[in-house]
Amino acid sequence: MSNNTEEQITQNVLDSIANTPNPRLKQVMSSLISHLHAFIREVELTQEEWNLGIQFLTRTGQMCDEKRQEFILLSDVTGVSMLVDAINHRQPGGATESTVFGPFYRAGAPELPPGASISQDKRGEPVVVSGRVLSTDGTPIAGALLDIWETDENGLYEQQDPDQPDMNLRGKFRTDQQGRYCFVGIKPVSYSIPADGPVGQLLRALARHSFRPAHIHLLISAEGFVPVTTHLFVKGDPYLDSDAVFGTKDSLVVDFVRRDSPEEAARYHLTPPFYTVEYDFVLQPALL
Ligand SMILES: [Fe+2]
Repeated sequence: MSNNTEEQITQNVLDSIANTPNPRLKQVMSSLISHLHAFIREVELTQEEWNLGIQFLTRTGQMCDEKRQEFILLSDVTGVSMLVDAINHRQPGGATESTVFGPFYRAGAPELPPGASISQDKRGEPVVVSGRVLSTDGTPIAGALLDIWETDENGLYEQQDPDQPDMNLRGKFRTDQQGRYCFVGIKPVSYSIPADGPVGQLLRALARHSFRPAHIHLLISAEGFVPVTTHLFVKGDPYLDSDAVFGTKDSLVVDFVRRDSPEEAARYHLTPPFYTVEYDFVLQPALL
């Protein structure tokens, strides 16, 4: 019979899973149990704190439904999502850096012609985003697909906001033979992640805010290349140094240049002022 003392209990639990047939599951669970026990020993968790933790996780689960994923939010605000992303996307050779996918992507955005606007309600300040998609050796990639999504000027994605048209501010664009792309979006705004649940309570208890710096989401793919899930952030945003989900990377912060020329605006069927952004995305060839 096992003697489950403070000193022996960790080894006893590890021994209990010694026959796990799946080696990866055994590795992950052994490490999780070891670290969890070490954490409890380090902070000498009280019964009351243990109970609070159980209640917190219970409320986090109860907050989840088809539209709300509070556990992903918890993973995001603790930096876990970005760490998993970093470990899984160690891109050599100057490929565009990745960042969090986030919970607001929707499949099935319409494919639009080059230069089209993804804004259906024409709110916000227009921005023309253009550039190329290149291979890490500098070769332009024709036919690369850019799947784009962003919030409206009120900081809400269309599925969070009944006043926005379906698929507003979402669109797919393909690069031409020279690898060039161009689309019109709106200058993104900083927004708060959902803060009315247990994760919001946690942030307040930790004296943290719930804002993300303004960004446009992009998922870029091309046949024969490793796809990248990334953002373009607005240079000068006040939350760049304190993103609630730790998603910022220096290489993804870009200048949104204000333009006031009516002639230039007319080229994109816009009226000034509007903004322009130029950015080249770089994809890593997939291993054969
Ligand atoms: Fe976002």
